[in-house]
Amino acid sequence: MNKFVLVTGGAGYIGSHTVVALQQKGYTPIIADDFRNANEVVLKGLTQILGATPILHRIDVCDAAALNQLFEQYNFEGVIHFAAYKAVGESVEKPLAYYQNNLVGLINVLSMLEKHDVRNFVFSSSCTVYGEPKGEKEVSESTPKQAPESPYGFTKWMGEQIITDFHKSSAKSKLMNLRYFNPVGAHASALIGEYPIGKPNNLLPFVTQTAIGKHAHLTVFGDDYPTRDGSCIRDYIHVTDLAEAHVAALEFLAKAENGLLEAVNIGTGTGSSVLEIVAAFEKVTGKALPHQIGPRRAGDVVEIYANASKGQELLGWKARLTIEDAIRDAWAWENYLAASAQQ
Ligand code: UFG
Repeated sequence: MNKFVLVTGGAGYIGSHTVVALQQKGYTPIIADDFRNANEVVLKGLTQILGATPILHRIDVCDAAALNQLFEQYNFEGVIHFAAYKAVGESVEKPLAYYQNNLVGLINVLSMLEKHDVRNFVFSSSCTVYGEPKGEKEVSESTPKQAPESPYGFTKWMGEQIITDFHKSSAKSKLMNLRYFNPVGAHASALIGEYPIGKPNNLLPFVTQTAIGKHAHLTVFGDDYPTRDGSCIRDYIHVTDLAEAHVAALEFLAKAENGLLEAVNIGTGTGSSVLEIVAAFEKVTGKALPHQIGPRRAGDVVEIYANASKGQELLGWKARLTIEDAIRDAWAWENYLAASAQQ
């Protein structure tokens, strides 16, 4: 019997890798994506990896009627909800678009769970809900949440609040907030990866684009922070590990008692500084990365990394891949994109 899983935003960066991980574990992923922030290149790569075109419905999750039709068509075992805007800087310029898309989409999906009695739900949350950690830089799920710096961050923070209130009202639902740290890398085949639209804001896509010649240099945003080398520290998690965490979450929920809500950090447990990423890139690829030290970026958290023990205890999941693996795979993907563009 088919085990259908709805993957909203399944043609996006983390979504597409999760579709692969689901299929590997015997699920039938059903993608709902309107391609406003996804690219046909990823769909082509996904088709090659899966050996068949994935089942795709080009719908907007804010369109409740279209979403309802999907829930009538399939008997979903669970839903993984990725579809959302995700650029911190853009969210400051377009807060209403962010609140509208990210919160209406979430509310629509939760309403469908209730209406169609689908119980298992995984939400794309973020370590942004911890804000700037006070004192200890390693955060666990019991670390108090703090107001995020951006409207984007607030959509995740409020998303978790909406899910918490939904949980109180719903005795049957089994809900999980996965708090991602910094997703990086690409599928080992280099057929899918992150496809930034416009100039990337995130570090690793900017690094690989610089190395391939799209930018003159990388600017390191600040080297005067109170960290071991003065640059900011993050917990970079390989997207393949992250994708597998979603499948582990779904399997956990499927076996769990009704009426459950959990939050789980998805990180490696180790932080890397921006300058360490630059050095690791140069070591892995053998290419010099032109970079300059620039001013601090407004709103940057100084240092944060995951306490990742709950993921292992609850889900039996832990990161297997290293930052070097992620750099190698992201670089292969950047080269694949460059080669496809020349054809
Ligand atoms: N950085 C640079 N130069 C660049 C880009 C980034 O030095 O050109 C630095 C940043 O200052 C930061 C680190 O690289 O120190 C990582 O920056 P990213 O933009 O890649 O990631 P962030 O940690 O800022 O953002 C991530 C997610 C957001 C989430 C946030 C929560 O991308 O979705 O974590 O802290 F909201």
